[in-house]
Parts: sequence; structure tokens; C-alpha cells
Amino acid sequence: MARNWTTGQQQAIDARGGNLLVSAAAGSGKTAVLVERVIRRLSDPQSPVSADRLLIVTFTRAAAGEIRQRIGDALSEEIAKRPGDRRLAEQQMLLPFAKICTIDAFCSALVREHFESLGLAPDFKTADDGELQILSE
Ligand SMILES: Nc1ncnc2c1ncn2[C@@H]1O[C@H](COP(=O)(O)OP(=O)(O)OP(=O)(O)O)[C@@H](O)[C@H]1O
Ligand SMILES: [Mg+2]
Repeated sequence: MARNWTTGQQQAIDARGGNLLVSAAAGSGKTAVLVERVIRRLSDPQSPVSADRLLIVTFTRAAAGEIRQRIGDALSEEIAKRPGDRRLAEQQMLLPFAKICTIDAFCSALVREHFESLGLAPDFKTADDGELQILSE
């Protein structure tokens, strides 16, 4: 997305090779920076990342949905700019396979996938608040 990024945003977009913490006010462009980082990774000329290898976790389903939607929109914009780029077009098809979900959904899927090595029953379920209350009494 062509935008006049602030200096701080640009630094966060360009940062590579380590952990990065972005802390900024509500509505200041954190998600926009995240989306731009993803687009740069997907379209990196040297070592591009495949969309189905992404893991983006957040706290709410609404936020996860918004991020997936915004990455999809930004990707469409990039594809429109580079219609001959087949690899980029492929990323749009792979995006539904990207893990963009709540932390709870990610952990639950991980445990479900590896229930056997964790010594859990295949039909384990997560306790709700009421059940946890009974168990803790
Ligand atoms: N440098 C910028 N110039 C112009 N508009 C910007 C810039 N950065 C972000 N925006 C716009 O500001 C709005 C809010 O951005 P965004 O949703 O990314 O913020 P956020 O920090 O993730 O918000 P929230 O705290 O609600 O999650 C969006 O419309 C985004 O496109
Ligand atoms: Mg946001």
C-alpha cells in the first residue's frame, strides 16, 4: 500500500532478524504496519515467504478476521500493480491456509494435533468457566 509512513512506522516495517515489539495508541496504525510487513515478506524478491506459512495470533476473532481481510485487500492491490507476477497471485490462493486466529484457537489446534504425544484423550474438551469452578472446589 502506498502510504506516507511515519518514521516509527517505517522502522517497524523495515526491522528484520529479531523480535519486534510495537506498542502504540489505538488507531495509530499498528495493524497497517503488520499488514505491510506481511506484504513485504510475501513479495520479497530474495527469500519470499509463502502465505500458508504465516502464523498471526491475536486476542479476538474479530481482530483475526480484520487482519485476514486487510492482508487480502493489500495483496489484491499489489497484484493489480504487478499483474504478471504469478507467485504473488498464488499467495492470494494460499492466504485461506494462513494461520490467522486467536491464541486460544491456535493452542487448541496444536493440542488437538498432538493429543497422543501429550497423553490426552482424542475427544478432550476445554472446560468452561462453570466446569473450572466445580473442579477447583
Ligand atoms: N501513516 C499513515 N498515514 C495515513 N493513514 C494511516 C497511517 N497509518 C495508519 N493509517 C490509517 O489509520 C487507520 C487506523 O489504522 P490501524 O487500523 O492500522 O490502527 P491500529 O493501531 O491497528 O488500531 P487499533 O488500535 O484500533 O487496532 C487506518 O485507516 C489506516 O489505514
Ligand atoms: Mg489494529
